[in-house]
Amino acid sequence: MNLNSKKQPIALFDSGVGGLTVLNALKTHLPQENFIYLGDTARVPYGSKSQLTVQKYAVSAFKALIEFKPKLIVIACNTASCLALSYLKLQFPNTPIIGVIEPGVQKALSVSNSQQFGIIATASTIAQQAYQIPLSKARPKANIFPIAANLLVGVAEEGWQSSPIAKDIIKHYLQNWLKAPNNKPDTVILGCTHFPILKPAFRHVLGPDCNIVDSASTTANNVANWLTSQNLLNNQAISSANTNYLVTDSPERFARIAEQMTQCLIPATAIKWVDLPSPSAITVA
Ligand code: DGL
Repeated sequence: MNLNSKKQPIALFDSGVGGLTVLNALKTHLPQENFIYLGDTARVPYGSKSQLTVQKYAVSAFKALIEFKPKLIVIACNTASCLALSYLKLQFPNTPIIGVIEPGVQKALSVSNSQQFGIIATASTIAQQAYQIPLSKARPKANIFPIAANLLVGVAEEGWQSSPIAKDIIKHYLQNWLKAPNNKPDTVILGCTHFPILKPAFRHVLGPDCNIVDSASTTANNVANWLTSQNLLNNQAISSANTNYLVTDSPERFARIAEQMTQCLIPATAIKWVDLPSPSAITVA
């Protein structure tokens, strides 16, 4: 690392606006850091695509972010974390990478009393058993109730988190838990970074006693610990910290949804459109 590496940004990527939930947690924990966020909005959703396609998307997002010489890349997407993290680590051995699955597992294990875990995530994350395997390794007697809920990604991308539609769709997906109280988890993992945007709707459906866990703040803790261990914390004034955004589709649309989610105005100059290579142009070994 060169002498300026403390000042280098932390890069994040997601298929769309979902990773902003992780970015927000990072900004709260590490307000003195610079960030670069890539939302692959032209190719969202990732959660219904094959592993090969998601690996190709992830490689092209990675290459775009590496241009900014980040000190760390956070895969702020569960689907890309479970389908592409190992591959990216092999392909980019010199770039430190953190995913969001492991932090979500740690958080869920730390809050559950009954060891009844619900996982709600994209179809790919559920099919890969990205949460089921580490949870049952850590708690062999745990009951785990996974649900694939791809449609909720679209609800979040549309900015419909406050619409009654969000609650209705969540009720529909969770009907097995709601109908049979014995199958009702005490801890529900929102295993897609888009889903914390819908947290009030989940809370309404799941009731006040259920632990609703997402990986955003645990990921931010892990990032802070890693930066500290590497002596890479940025010590600049908070007022000098900046965040830039890259999107693969309309910057205006991204700004509108992002502002609705974060209640923060994102200046148009901070959002740039980038053209990533199409999957057929990317070779995955
Ligand atoms: N936000 C992503 C995740 O955490 C991807 C959602 C999608 O694009 O399907 O899985």
